[in-house]
Amino acid sequence: MSNAWNEGYFTDEGYTYSYSREINPVFLRYCLLLRGFATLESNDGVHCELGFGQGVSINIHATANPGSFVGTDFHPGMAAHAIDLATAANNGARLYDDSFEQLLARNDLPQFDSISLHGIWTWVSRDNQKLIVEFARRHLKPGGMLYVSYNCFPGWSPSAPLRNLFSLHDRFANASARSDERIDAALEFSEALLAANPKYAAAAPSLGARLQSIKGQDRHYVAHEYFNRDWNCMYFADMVDALAPAKLDYATTAVPLDSIDPLNLSAEGMDFLETIEHPIMREQARDYFVNQHFRRDLYVRGATRLSAAERRARMLHSRFALLQSWETVAGSVTGPAGEATLQAEIYGPVLDALAAQNYAAKSMRQLLSETAMAYDDLEQALAVLIGMGAVAPCQSEAAESQVSGRCAALNLQLCKRSLYGANIQTLASPVTGGGVTVSRFQQLFLISIKQGKQQPAEWAQLAWGVISEQGEVLIDNGQPLLTAEANIAALTAQAQVFAEQTLPVLRALKIA
Ligand SMILES: C[S@@+](CC[C@H](N)C(=O)[O-])C[C@H]1O[C@@H](n2cnc3c(N)ncnc32)[C@H](O)[C@@H]1O
Repeated sequence: MSNAWNEGYFTDEGYTYSYSREINPVFLRYCLLLRGFATLESNDGVHCELGFGQGVSINIHATANPGSFVGTDFHPGMAAHAIDLATAANNGARLYDDSFEQLLARNDLPQFDSISLHGIWTWVSRDNQKLIVEFARRHLKPGGMLYVSYNCFPGWSPSAPLRNLFSLHDRFANASARSDERIDAALEFSEALLAANPKYAAAAPSLGARLQSIKGQDRHYVAHEYFNRDWNCMYFADMVDALAPAKLDYATTAVPLDSIDPLNLSAEGMDFLETIEHPIMREQARDYFVNQHFRRDLYVRGATRLSAAERRARMLHSRFALLQSWETVAGSVTGPAGEATLQAEIYGPVLDALAAQNYAAKSMRQLLSETAMAYDDLEQALAVLIGMGAVAPCQSEAAESQVSGRCAALNLQLCKRSLYGANIQTLASPVTGGGVTVSRFQQLFLISIKQGKQQPAEWAQLAWGVISEQGEVLIDNGQPLLTAEANIAALTAQAQVFAEQTLPVLRALKIA
């Protein structure tokens, strides 16, 4: 639907309620430190998120970080949802339904320590991209960081024409007022076109599989990814140029696994990239080796390198915590260069040390003395575990105690929402300053625990009471469980695993 305010952005379908750890200032500071860059270290920093969608990430971060947060999303329904969460958490976030143009015109905004935009850049017009750059030029502090994610070439080159077909069909051939019907019609049209054997399909043989995978994706996501009027996919080097007017230097990615070359590149690729001196040229060439299609990049307004000693001192002082029980951490990790097994003699002691003392967060200095490992091995193991999402960098204990109360308030609200549905499966941790994935049933178990129930069987009863009233049942091996007994037994089994594996971690993360 075309509204005066939506500038061709596909606003008929609200966006998903997903959470992005990359926008957490604690995580971003860790990514910069990992690559040896200085960061603004203040606990009461001011942060901005552009295009916050349903506002899950900005609210988790505004609640779990001691600093202050400002954000906008021009979709009034989603801004209202985000403001509602901010009120529930009493986190002081200033959230607007301004367009980027309106935000830029405000004269009541501070200088920010960080500006983040996740899933925005590619899907807005060139004019809006310029407004974003101008916003960063005016409002990012010297030394401040900018996080931006975007679709890029060369990874997108074979399937960009597919997106073009969807968008063209939506613009010229769709009559339906219903957005789900318009999306389905465009997908069917594209499938029929490929089935008619155009020469393009022969040149890009993976297109059919790509289309099938899109058909299986969440329609809200598909709407935003493929049906906007604007879709400005870029090369990394063009992004560097686009951000230069805001005095932004490319620093690194917000992907810790990118720091592990053997996971990303063949020996031949590593040797080739070694020969390239210019860092921008090297990073751009690297995108060819990994066939990059989506980048999560970190820029700094005046990137400053730390000395090796200072970097190490800061890293030793940083704290880390497991986000899952040690026995559930995968034994391997996959990158563009293939799968690598986590060596038991390295990862065993690291996971043991992280799990010790009931999973309490520990500084790298503590982990080093507990594992007796070499510094470089431990730093790399932590980067891998953080990259996998099994571990998170933590904020200071002072920051943690400042935000504990409001995290509890937000988490209670989020758990209460699980009484009605499963849309937000994240809770806020005062320890990491970020979100932790917690399923709907686990949120229901937490409500039961809050009510003083101590036995997994009691938690399962509460969950069954809630879902059975809504006519829902559990699915086991693809089959619905038809009796109350079978559902309660399955929920009790889940609650037992929750008690043994998840609850100790949630307690250490100060969520339970
Ligand atoms: C793909 S969604 C990403 C949302 C969120 N960052 C996330 O990752 O979950 C893009 C968001 O940008 C917002 N948006 C697009 N153009 C905008 C503009 N010109 N001004 C403000 N918000 C805009 C949309 O309403 C939408 O919520």
